[in-house]
Amino acid sequence: MAISLPDFTYIADLARRRAAIVLEPGKEYLVESRLTPIAQKEGHAGLAEFIARLRTGPESGPMHSRVVDALTTNETFFFRDHHPFEALRKSVLPPLIQARANLRRLTIWCAACSTGQEPYSIAMMLREHFPQLASWKVNILATDISPRVLDQARKGVYSQIEVNRGLPAIYLVKHFTQNGGGWMVRDEIRKSVEFRELNLIQSWGSLPVFDVVFIRNVLIYFDVPTKQAILRNIRRNMAPDGQLFLGTAETAINLDAGFTAVSHPSITTYRPA
Ligand SMILES: C[S@@+](CC[C@H](N)C(=O)[O-])C[C@H]1O[C@@H](n2cnc3c(N)ncnc32)[C@H](O)[C@@H]1O
Repeated sequence: MAISLPDFTYIADLARRRAAIVLEPGKEYLVESRLTPIAQKEGHAGLAEFIARLRTGPESGPMHSRVVDALTTNETFFFRDHHPFEALRKSVLPPLIQARANLRRLTIWCAACSTGQEPYSIAMMLREHFPQLASWKVNILATDISPRVLDQARKGVYSQIEVNRGLPAIYLVKHFTQNGGGWMVRDEIRKSVEFRELNLIQSWGSLPVFDVVFIRNVLIYFDVPTKQAILRNIRRNMAPDGQLFLGTAETAINLDAGFTAVSHPSITTYRPA
């Protein structure tokens, strides 16, 4: 049954307050398709009954969290868009590694990492192309708001379809083992990534200073003031020579004057001005 306007407005407000996710009118189908399975699982006759129950409980409760989690879009795949990983390998990492030669430390943040393909792509690429980092302290922190996707990310288990999306065959052979009908990331790669729950619109707690930040395909869900606040906070957590990677449809231009655009073949990255 179609969701009523007051129910859609209630859910859209919840998503905005809890995760900054903007659900404009027209996204009713998304709310219906994501929440109907939860309503059924909880034994409700329909979405209206389920939302009526949600209205009676505290917004910070576990059922509300489950609803917000279900409204996140977790689309991702290995080496998504290809060019950011090429730019990281060819032009961003070499000077950073040179500049950190004495410190022998590199810190990378993958914010909104979904089910982990993005941070694992970075970890595999580092192992393949920068063997000298084996003796360095390399931290890859990967965060997301959704405990559900983080659970899969930590396990590092992917279906055949998931590994078919973007993962070069040579990486599959070298860095995965077969796991039932799917594939599991080998321990040395899995353990090189730390996964942590982090809501970008709440306090970030204590974070290290980052040399590289990937925050791709998440700012598109937020309104302009939220994008600006997040970009400003990221910049404050970055090394002066660090670099920021956004999604192909995203930009820091006109949002945060504190970033300078850096051009690479096919993509732009940003460094603190
Ligand atoms: C489309 S995925 C992007 C995954 C990966 N970065 C990529 O580009 O392939 C967007 C992710 O952002 C997360 N997300 C949405 N709102 C968030 C918030 N307020 N704080 C942290 N993560 C959020 C979602 O849970 C989802 O996993």
